[in-house]
Amino acid sequence: MLNLGVLASGRGSNFQSIINEIEAGKLNASIKLLIVDNPHAYAIERAKKHSIEYLYINPKEFSSKNDFFRKITDELKARNVELVILAGFMRIVRKPLIDAFPNRIMNIHPALLPSFPGLHGQKQASDYGVRISGCTVHFVDEGMDTGPVIIQAAVPVSPDDTEETLSARILKLEHKIFPEAIRLYADGRLSVEGRVVKIKGCELKDEYIVNPPLR
Ligand code: GAR
Repeated sequence: MLNLGVLASGRGSNFQSIINEIEAGKLNASIKLLIVDNPHAYAIERAKKHSIEYLYINPKEFSSKNDFFRKITDELKARNVELVILAGFMRIVRKPLIDAFPNRIMNIHPALLPSFPGLHGQKQASDYGVRISGCTVHFVDEGMDTGPVIIQAAVPVSPDDTEETLSARILKLEHKIFPEAIRLYADGRLSVEGRVVKIKGCELKDEYIVNPPLR
């Protein structure tokens, strides 16, 4: 069984999707700890409800960002965490955590990277006027949303979309691909070559999305 540590800053719906897959017996993993950097994160309520240990770590109590991430690393290591999940964690991860978990930190981002990294990926996509956007699960390196891509999923974007409507469409897919990426890892099917993630036994379907549809 794979030991997970989850980092979150807010609502925690991605955290919930992972809890649900585990409780349904579809993901052979155990969440050892939730760490939040925000004492009001709704993710805390979800942890309480599912009897998952949680910790609020206040970044302001540390004299440097590296010290803050050293503390996070120590707490994760103390619980034998093997894979770290960033589920709406709104900070750039620093070296102490990355060095302790090389290619063992996964993030979900609400856009098709490398397009629209950083904050408000959905708003960036709708403001830009792209026809297709989506979400990406990737391993975390020292850049902002730059690490090796594991899974991407695409949705059509309407010129009438707002940040809210597009976010809702993308979020449904986030809740599918994040647990799936963790499952691939848990099953030992992922390997990283350079910046390319290889997936054992994965057959590509030769399909496409066109938006607006062809007539
Ligand atoms: C999700 O849409 C996630 O992709 C995004 O924050 C939201 C968190 O929702 N993450 C980022 O933008 C990271 N750059 P959640 O708390 O309900 O999982």
